[in-house]
Amino acid sequence: MNFTGQDLASFIENLDRLHLAVGAAMPGARLPSFTTISKAPGQLMVEYRSDRTGLEQFVLGLFDGLITRFGATGDVQIAEHKADSIIFELQYQDGS
Ligand code: HEM
Repeated sequence: MNFTGQDLASFIENLDRLHLAVGAAMPGARLPSFTTISKAPGQLMVEYRSDRTGLEQFVLGLFDGLITRFGATGDVQIAEHKADSIIFELQYQDGS
């Protein structure tokens, strides 16, 4: 995980690369895709795409875990359900 990013925003921006790297060794894996659609101090809007449904609470929990891992505190919400994607809103304060 250390190679994927040194802070929350860059880690999330590199999530697709991480999954592609892992997926290269796993034929048949169905990988998610994450796009940062906006980035402000303490706030990220991230679009999640998948060909699976029903994983949004799982993703929410993973984002929550990432906030903790990067020493921040915060909150994750589903901002919008779109036809083929879900927008997550992360609000956080750095731990220092
Ligand atoms: C070291 C970190 C991680 C590794 C090694 C990893 C690896 C993987 C692998 C191998 C799969 C494919 C499973 C399959 O198709 O059988 C997968 C799926 C998935 N990963 Fe990760 N992952 C990591 C971190 C994350 C994080 C931080 C998130 C979200 C914030 C995430 C979200 C997901 C989701 C939602 C899926 C299910 C596939 C889908 O949505 O269609 N992963 N991951």
